[in-house]
This record gives sequence, structure tokens and C-alpha cells, in this order.
Amino acid sequence: VAMLAGPRPLAGRSVLITAGGTVERIDPVRYISNDSSGKMGFALAEAARASGADVTLICGRTDSAAPSGVKAIKVNSAVEMYEAVMERLPQTDVVIKAAAVADYRPKETADHKIKKSAETISLELIRNPDILQSIGEWKSGNKGSNGLFVVGFAAETTDVERHAVDKLNRKKCDLMIANDVSREGAGFGSDTNIVSVYDTRGLVENMPQMSKREVANRIMELIAQRLPMKGS
Ligand code: CTP
Ligand code: CA
Repeated sequence: VAMLAGPRPLAGRSVLITAGGTVERIDPVRYISNDSSGKMGFALAEAARASGADVTLICGRTDSAAPSGVKAIKVNSAVEMYEAVMERLPQTDVVIKAAAVADYRPKETADHKIKKSAETISLELIRNPDILQSIGEWKSGNKGSNGLFVVGFAAETTDVERHAVDKLNRKKCDLMIANDVSREGAGFGSDTNIVSVYDTRGLVENMPQMSKREVANRIMELIAQRLPMKGS
């Protein structure tokens, strides 16, 4: 325990964080995305850096520039984010999926701007890969051989606990950070967040409303406490 208690509890660990919303192209000038600001992911990147980790940040669309001192990789679509994440897993100790990944993308992306003609048109959407689920499957396939620690987020508006625990189990996460995005002071665009944390045994803690950076610091402590010793 004493070894974990230093000011840089994640020194020597490589942490991969995804942030922001994905952009799913309809045509060269139009896309489908979501309201994610990237703030929670950026706060996590800063907190991980301050804990001594070597941080890689995979960013979709965000409202601001990535924090300094981290390796930032820009992606657009969920498919690009999937590839950027999966190829780095063998060199990663902790992965944190704060990104708001679009669940669907247009089945086809037009090469040219779509012209208006008919009164109604429809857009066919197909499911995107579930990146967090794929990470969980990769980890079980490897029998957790590199000890990858997986942290997911669950954005909910109803039955937060039930959905969060279900996602934790389904996606084989070690920690799930649930936020009720319908609450004032939580979720998309806000500078604060109100989260509940679950692990495989159940509720870990309900955090009060705090700045996203404070939430991120506490999440880093919870991760550091649960990481296997380096080299074991
Ligand atoms: N996630 C992901 N890839 C997707 C969709 C979600 O990696 N295609 C990740 C998110 O980054 C988050 C977690 O899965 O860490 C939960 O995302 P969320 O949207 O809350 O859950 P879904 O499984 O997509 O379920 P639903 O949107 O139907 O609630
Ligand atoms: Ca979703």
C-alpha cells in the first residue's frame, strides 16, 4: 500500500484515453455527431499526466485543444477511433473510454454534396463497432495477459445503476463511471460532473458534484489502488 501512496501513483504506466464525440460523415459538408465537449476526457488526461503516467489521448470532435504533455491523436469516425485504440492495446496498461462514440453511421457516405430534390429522403444508418466491448473481448481472449485495466463510462438518463452495472458486465470492464446526463451539473458541456463508480463487486462510491478535474483525480486514485503491481 505504501508503494501506491506516492504523489505519482501511475509513474511508469501507459494510459490510453479517448475523448470527444465521433463524426460520422453523410457527405463532404454534413455529418452526424453528438454534444460531447471532450472536457471529461481532457480532465482525465491531465489527471493521469499529473499522476506520472505516460498518456495517449485519442480525440474525436472536441470544443478545445488537447492538454499539453500528452500524446494526442485526432480521429474522426468511430471506425477510425476503433482502429487507433485496438492497435495500441498491447502497449497499454490502462484504457479509459470517455469518448461519446456514435452508435450508428450512415450506411453510405456520398462523395459529393447531396443535392435537394424530393420532399422527403431517408438516411440509412448501420451500427458502429463497440470499441469498449471489443477491448473487453481482446482482454479475455488474451486471458488478461498484459493485465490491461479497462474503464468505461455510461451516459444514462434513467435507471443509472442498472444500466451501468449491465454495461460493466457486458463490456468486461474493471471500473464503470456512470453519469446521469439529465441532471443539472453533469454530463455534456458542463464543467462539473456528478458520477457514481461501480466495479465488478458493485457500487464503489457516489461522488458529489465536483469539477471534472476533481472527478478525474479521484478516478485516477481508484485506478491506482486497483492496478496489479508492475511486473507481477
Ligand atoms: N462505447 C464504445 N463504442 C461504441 C459505443 C460506446 O466504446 N460504439 C463506449 C463508450 O465510450 C462508453 C461506453 O461504451 O465508455 C458506454 O457508452 P454508452 O453510449 O453509455 O453505452 P452503449 O453501450 O452505447 O449503450 P446505449 O447507448 O444504448 O445506452
Ligand atoms: Ca451509445
